[in-house]
Amino acid sequence: MVAGDTAISTVGKEGLGLTYRGYSIDDLAEKATFEEVAYLLIYGRLPKATELEEYRQRLASRRGLPSALKTVLEQVPADAHPMDVLRTGCSALGCLEPESRERGQDQVADRLLASFPSMLLYWYQFHKTGRRIETQTEDRSMAAHFLHLLSGRPPDAMHERAMDVSLILYAEHEFNASTFTVRITTSTLADFYSAITSGIGALRGPLHGGANEAAMELIEKFKTPDEAEAGLMTMLRNKELVMGFGHRVYKISDPRSDIIKRWAKKLGDAADDTRLYPISERIEQVMWREKKLFPNLDFYSAAAYHFSGIPTPMFTPIFVISRTSGWSAHVIEQRGNNRLIRPTADYTGPPPRPFVPLAQR
Ligand code: ACO
Repeated sequence: MVAGDTAISTVGKEGLGLTYRGYSIDDLAEKATFEEVAYLLIYGRLPKATELEEYRQRLASRRGLPSALKTVLEQVPADAHPMDVLRTGCSALGCLEPESRERGQDQVADRLLASFPSMLLYWYQFHKTGRRIETQTEDRSMAAHFLHLLSGRPPDAMHERAMDVSLILYAEHEFNASTFTVRITTSTLADFYSAITSGIGALRGPLHGGANEAAMELIEKFKTPDEAEAGLMTMLRNKELVMGFGHRVYKISDPRSDIIKRWAKKLGDAADDTRLYPISERIEQVMWREKKLFPNLDFYSAAAYHFSGIPTPMFTPIFVISRTSGWSAHVIEQRGNNRLIRPTADYTGPPPRPFVPLAQR
């Protein structure tokens, strides 16, 4: 069902596949960096070299967190889901640095993109190690900043690039559930932070962004590919959903999956993995053979993140960190030609009837 117009991306259009502002996802994942892609999505064109450098520096300068936000993050329980941490952090920053005439939408977009990794990892390290880490690092890229704050040391080039590519793949996907939620909130003329906060809520569920975590939990259950095949056959017999497979728009394959699959293989080899990647491939084979279902981006992202040393509950938050670029582009586009989004429903309730007073029920 067509729900509106967009000039930001195409998903599954014949002959186009996935494109951001007309550029194919294959080219972007091979030749661009995440910062270039975020600029492309938000500002509508590829940056020149000086613009990109300036944009990198601007994002890097906005990684620090206000002390009131650090206090909020310290109060969020250690066992909270990291998606709840980002949803809370986004909302709290909206109270501390609200959108205003002086702090416009581009500035809020930069700030959220730059500070989501800081929020997540400040909370994580505080509760795990008791340390109040400095989030204003010198790392050149968001990928390196994230991995640095997670492990305490700057990543090597391969792990940084793998993360960078994954951020590119997750950056934008037209009118998916969370982006449409962002647009609905925007269409009421609400502020930027409210739009992004509602997007995080929509992304959290396992039928959407939460599928990468659910996929990891599935893969980890099995010790061998044969065990995985037997387990999958039981799941399919019981009509259970296998997370990380299928898609509402793509019908034959997800163009992002092969790209992240290659990275999962490379990272698995570097980690001397002999178990999780072969199990993932067997699950892919069984799903195709039995149901003609293909892996979506979430399936091999799970293994790729795992081999990068990322804890499973952080998989969906990484999706937020990246998708903030696409969501921001949609807030700006919606505002550019706004009309309240207000669908109607087919009524399935009782016909009109007389009210029954309390004493007669
Ligand atoms: N595992 C098992 N069966 C499946 C799966 C799956 N992952 N996906 C679809 N099917 C089955 C459906 O149950 C249905 O079976 P039926 O005809 O016997 O009832 C049939 O395949 C057709 O499904 P569709 O109606 O085409 O799927 P729909 O468009 O409603 O759902 C969705 C798409 C939600 C992505 C679904 O495939 C799913 O639940 N996948 C698992 C969750 C997931 O991976 N989500 C991530 C989406 S991508 C992203 O956020 C990056």
